[in-house]
Amino acid sequence: MEKKEMLYEGKAKQVFATDKADEVVVRYKDDATAFNAQKRGSFARKGELNNAISTLIFEYLAKNGIPTHFIEKLGDIEQLVKKVDIIPLEMVVRNYVAGSMAQRLGVEEGLKSPVTIFDLCYKKDELGDPLINDHHAVFLGAASYDELKEMYALTDKINQLLIALFDKMNIILVDFKIELGKTSDGKIVLADEISPDTCRLWDKDTMKKLDKDRFRRDLGEVTEAYEEIYDRLQKAVNS
Ligand code: C5P
Repeated sequence: MEKKEMLYEGKAKQVFATDKADEVVVRYKDDATAFNAQKRGSFARKGELNNAISTLIFEYLAKNGIPTHFIEKLGDIEQLVKKVDIIPLEMVVRNYVAGSMAQRLGVEEGLKSPVTIFDLCYKKDELGDPLINDHHAVFLGAASYDELKEMYALTDKINQLLIALFDKMNIILVDFKIELGKTSDGKIVLADEISPDTCRLWDKDTMKKLDKDRFRRDLGEVTEAYEEIYDRLQKAVNS
């Protein structure tokens, strides 16, 4: 495989073309942003840890029947993935109340929800990724009602598998965000990444935050938290 020109640079990743039309290389950066890029920073080993964590999670999900874009990890900060058209919707799942939902609804952070909560956000940086509903998504041409149904079912299955995996790690999966994409033959697959950048992960015993909230809220020990997740994840997938 030959790596070619950069196709895209996002806040935390770069995407490169390869000599194969349907495969791209994703490179994880150490840069971190929060609050729609109003807060910027970078922390040691972030790219390497997110690449390693996302690889293990995508392999676990694929093993359990989830279609994904992931092909293989190439090195410390790169992975080879199928080229997809990203559906411009962020699928956010909440098992506990935290973050923007706690703020928006004036509910205390940390409450367990009796139902799984799905938020749909329109991926549009200029608008700050606004919360929308299914009708808006169809109006915007982002997905059809049938596709949304498939996307919610896939997201729900991913949530159940992730809850079980993090449970083994003695971690509460508070919430997370995923992105889905369409392959050249029109199949909807899990894309982007799943890492402490995209999930809220709390230690079950101490409730210590082991995710990007340590960066967002200036809690310190950011790299250490990501390392802790990687250590526990390696043990969980190998057991
Ligand atoms: O900010 P909010 O509380 O809505 O975030 C919910 C979950 O989605 C968190 O785990 C957060 O890390 C993730 N998220 C993300 N990318 C975004 C927005 C939220 O990974 N653009």
